[in-house]
Amino acid sequence: MSRVLPPTDDALDRAARVLREGGRVGLPTETVYGLAAHGLDPEAVAGIYAAKHRPSFNPLILHVTPRDLASLHADGITDADRLSPEARALVDRLLAAAWPGPLTVVLPRGPAVPDLTTAGLDTVGVRAPAHTVAQALLARVGVPLAAPSANRSGRISPTTAADVADELGEAVALVLDGGPCEVGVESTVLHVSEDGVLTVLRPGHWTADALVDLTGQPVRRSTGHAEQPRSPGMTARHYAPDTPLLRLPATLDHLDEDAVLARLDGRRAAVLVWDAAAARRVSASDWPLEPVFIDADGDLTATARGLYRTLRALDRSGAEVLLAEPFPPDALGDDGLAYALRDRIRRASTAW
Ligand code: TXA
Ligand code: MG
Repeated sequence: MSRVLPPTDDALDRAARVLREGGRVGLPTETVYGLAAHGLDPEAVAGIYAAKHRPSFNPLILHVTPRDLASLHADGITDADRLSPEARALVDRLLAAAWPGPLTVVLPRGPAVPDLTTAGLDTVGVRAPAHTVAQALLARVGVPLAAPSANRSGRISPTTAADVADELGEAVALVLDGGPCEVGVESTVLHVSEDGVLTVLRPGHWTADALVDLTGQPVRRSTGHAEQPRSPGMTARHYAPDTPLLRLPATLDHLDEDAVLARLDGRRAAVLVWDAAAARRVSASDWPLEPVFIDADGDLTATARGLYRTLRALDRSGAEVLLAEPFPPDALGDDGLAYALRDRIRRASTAW
């Protein structure tokens, strides 16, 4: 097993040494834990793809200390010359307002970034994480760190240090324990075109509406159309538990019990519901199903924080099949973060 270490000065020094020598470290961030390596060293980056069994067409994000576009350009991370003056001003506004934090910005790639990091694309995703341990490590190493979520490819992203050790075992030299992740789902990935068109490639904590407010510009959501930028990592099935997870077409009280039980065919099942009231409703009913819910008190942010932890717990619960009631329930509302969570739940599951 990999070593999980509290983030003392000694542990940070050790982690920085491992990274400079081309090794891999489990990195706490505010979104999810990352599997970090030297982002400008092709061999170190190759080690990430191997450890995760990640397909080589799926580009990695570079993590940096908070900074402006001129500094990214000076270090050869991005190529600001390819951006129009309007796009440059827009990026500076985005970075000043959203960094450090859960926003990845996809920009023209600079000459220092190896092909392998971006899977050959001429753009690069960059993010300055807000977690103090991530910032302390970045400051010590002094190079950008490539860090995808620290799960095996296609699995649920880890939100604790123990999850990382479970997922990756010996494939990571050490894991810095920064506690449970505050946000709980991956960063919003925002593509900025050379003339300043904004497209959300992966929804997240920074919602499209918040980005419109911040920039005063329209923000598109990626539709996967040929003429739009794409995120090669956004395959339909992703972030999934090992146990099959089925999305119910309606809440249990609106479904025919015989039909559902026939479908379960005697398998042990658990049902994910979205608040305490729904859990009480299932418990009080005749359904032979254990309700599981995220104790978020009607709060979407807290639901996000608990989502992956709960999916992991369900995966270990001994259930042979998992059901999920439709998300979001009326009580949670349907704002931009609900959209991001629904996206993750859809990718983790199959339709009924
Ligand atoms: O919150 C996060 O972003 C976490 C933490 C560790 O920072 N990282 C993370 O990385 O989620 P990963 O590799 O699991 O997801 C990165 C996503 C993938 O869907 C990838 O395809 C997309 O970002 N991406 C990266 N670079 C891109 C680029 N140049 N163009 C389009 N999509 C890109
Ligand atoms: Mg990932």
